[in-house]
Amino acid sequence: MQPESLRARHVAIIMDGNGRWAKRRHLPRVVGHQRGVEAVRRLVRSLKDGDLECLTLYAFSSENWKRPEDEVSALMDMLRKFIRSDLEEFIENGVRLAIIGDYQVLAPDIVDLLEDALARTAGGTRTVAVALNYGSQQEIARAARLAAAEGEITPEAIERHLFTRDLPPLDLLIRTSGEVRLSNFLLWQCAYAEMAFTDVLWPDFTPQHLAEALDDFATRERRYGGR
Ligand code: IPE
Ligand code: IPE
Ligand code: MG
Repeated sequence: MQPESLRARHVAIIMDGNGRWAKRRHLPRVVGHQRGVEAVRRLVRSLKDGDLECLTLYAFSSENWKRPEDEVSALMDMLRKFIRSDLEEFIENGVRLAIIGDYQVLAPDIVDLLEDALARTAGGTRTVAVALNYGSQQEIARAARLAAAEGEITPEAIERHLFTRDLPPLDLLIRTSGEVRLSNFLLWQCAYAEMAFTDVLWPDFTPQHLAEALDDFATRERRYGGR
């Protein structure tokens, strides 16, 4: 039996299209990324008005290291600035930061900032999980290794070792910018997640777009293989 309307607990977003947003305006890519950070800020601020428990944001993939060095370092700099400028607001708004991905290999000062932010937001009641140096295949391989070391490799044992182990099950995955692929994001967790693809470029994505995606999600019928 399916409830009348579904409420999503956990939404994940592949925030794509910053480069194309800038290109269309004949601006440097970095400006697109800056406007992308503003879209993140708007969305995180809007969480206090809704009932979403967890928002997971794909910020930097394990493959994004292939980009030119100046773009990678600009992205890392924006991450530093964002944590410094927004941490207090996270705390005030009861937002708990989580990180998925192998973030310990980032620059030591970023690791320190992130770990301080994790500790200081630990009491928050809604989670914003940021995917940093995240690759889903790597995550699954790591979880399988850890599960094997403990005994059997079962789906349950793997789940206990995924970066998302403390997050609610994924309900809805959104990707912006018109691309229809997962780009190594949450492959395991998407097993029965609903999907939403929009042509909106990430810097243009607003809380209203999220609300619309949640309204659409509420009308879906999830079957999980049953009938
Ligand atoms: C997403 O925007 C941001 C990151 C991957 C960090 P892109 O930079 O991928 O933008 P497009 O896809 O080139 O438009
Ligand atoms: C996925 O976007 C990664 C993030 C949004 C952080 P990409 O722009 O890197 O993905 P591809 O290369 O188009 O698949
Ligand atoms: Mg892209």
